[in-house]
Amino acid sequence: MSYLILGSGGLGTALAHELAQRGEEWLLAGRQAPKGLDPACYFPLQEVDALAFEALFTLYDGASLPTVVINTIGLLYDLNHMPERRVEEVDPEWLGESLEANAWPQLALGASLSRLMTPDSRLWLCTLSDLAGSLGQAESGQPGIGSRYSYRMSKAALNMGARLLAAEWAERFPGAGVITVHPGLMDTPLQQPFKNELDPAQLQDPARVAPRLLDLIGTLTQSDSGRFLDLQGKPLPW
Ligand SMILES: NC(=O)c1ccc[n+]([C@@H]2O[C@H](COP(=O)([O-])OP(=O)(O)OC[C@H]3O[C@@H](n4cnc5c(N)ncnc54)[C@H](OP(=O)(O)O)[C@@H]3O)[C@@H](O)[C@H]2O)c1
Repeated sequence: MSYLILGSGGLGTALAHELAQRGEEWLLAGRQAPKGLDPACYFPLQEVDALAFEALFTLYDGASLPTVVINTIGLLYDLNHMPERRVEEVDPEWLGESLEANAWPQLALGASLSRLMTPDSRLWLCTLSDLAGSLGQAESGQPGIGSRYSYRMSKAALNMGARLLAAEWAERFPGAGVITVHPGLMDTPLQQPFKNELDPAQLQDPARVAPRLLDLIGTLTQSDSGRFLDLQGKPLPW
């Protein structure tokens, strides 16, 4: 298998370390090179605009495509924006940035791969999502973690994008599949500002999540395409 990992945050870096340890072929595309790993396996992806994806996929012109693409890019806050607690805090620009970071990269990957795939291509596109973006979970009345409008709405959009892409690929590229995965809470920069609100026992080490995610992807069959799964492979509510 060969892997393309998007995002050099907590989980993306842990996946690269795990793949290196397993002796797999991998490339990490992100804003920062992962420390302690072969720099030749790193591609600087500073933005998530169409040009950045075009530049990344020139690497695959005339070369074999990866068999597994894992998109770990995710955005919950930045220096100027914290997750909203009330509707009055929703800022349309931040909502747009959240959609661009959380929902768009999967479709950018889908488009870049579709341009290079043939009807007999076999690959998995896996994007990390969040149960916080599940409408079913919200309807079940489970207590949320604050409104977090921009994050949760953009993860809901990501999930819909995965369903649509899986249905499109089933017709165009029947050997290729699309899933979204909720990894559970992890001790990564994404949770850094909220750590004192969380039970430390619930925060998983991303180094432990990475092998579970890779093992899960190794068990997928075509009937899983279009599903939203947890790390055990259990389907989650949309
Ligand atoms: N951690 C959790 O508890 C948790 C729970 C449920 C779901 N998830 C999901 O799991 C995935 C991995 O999260 P993580 O915990 O590894 O988070 P993380 O450490 O914050 O990593 C997120 C990555 O996304 C990149 N990114 C964000 N916005 C970007 C943009 N506009 N352009 C390019 N790159 C951008 C970040 O780059 P920089 O580092 O350069 O900013 C970072 O590499 C995310 O989709 C997250 O939503 C995480």
